[in-house]
Amino acid sequence: MTTAVLATTNPNKVREIRALLDGLDIEVVGLDHFGGIQPPEETGATFEENAALKARYYAAVTGLPAIAEDSGLEIDALGGKPGVGSARFGGVDSSYPEKFEKLYAMLAAAGGRDSTARFVCSVALVDGDQVRFAARGTVEGRISPEPRGTHGFGYDPIFFYPPEGRTLAEVSDDVKRAVSHRGAAFRALRTWLEGSYLNTTCR
Ligand code: IMP
Repeated sequence: MTTAVLATTNPNKVREIRALLDGLDIEVVGLDHFGGIQPPEETGATFEENAALKARYYAAVTGLPAIAEDSGLEIDALGGKPGVGSARFGGVDSSYPEKFEKLYAMLAAAGGRDSTARFVCSVALVDGDQVRFAARGTVEGRISPEPRGTHGFGYDPIFFYPPEGRTLAEVSDDVKRAVSHRGAAFRALRTWLEGSYLNTTCR
C-alpha cells in the first residue's frame, strides 16, 4: 500500500479529506505522526502556489509523497478578499465571529452585505520534487445576511449556498462533502489516484 502524508494541521480539513479519500489503496498519515515539523510560510499569491509550496515542503521533510491543499473564501464585492489570506484575515488570533463582523463592515462600506462569493480549494500531490497532480475545486454562493448554523468550520456560517437554501454551516457533513470546493478538488485527486498513480506506483 502507498503511504502519503496529508500536509495539513487543521483537524476539520483532515476529517473532511479522510472521508473523501476513504477506501483507496493509500494510507494517508497526518502531520501529527511526525511531530514538531515547523510549517512553511505560505508566501504564494495564489491557492495553487501555496498548495504546491506546502506539498513540496512536506514531501522534502518527510520523504513521503505529500498531499497539500490551500483554500479560502473569495467575496466578489471585496475584490476577492479574504482570498489566500482567509485564515489570517483580521489577525491570526481573531475569532471567526470577529472576522465575520470585519467582513460585514467592509461589505457595508462597499455598498451592502449581499455579494456573490465562492470557496476555492487547490490540491497538489508532490512525489520527490515533482508536482504530479494539481486540481482546483470551487463552490459558488452568496454572503448570508447574518451568520447561521453550527456545522462545518471557518466561514461556513456566512456562506449561503443557494441550491440548499441554507449556509454551509447548516448542512450535514455529507452534503458539504458532496457540494464543496474541497469535495470537488479531492474527488478529482481520487479519480487520478485510482486511474493512474496507484496503478503505476510501487512502494
Ligand atoms: P489555509 O489553511 O491557509 O488553506 O486556510 C484556509 C482558510 O480558509 C481556513 O482557515 C478557513 O478560514 C477558510 N476555509 C477554507 N475552506 C473552508 C471551508 O470549507 N469552510 C469554511 N472556511 C473555509
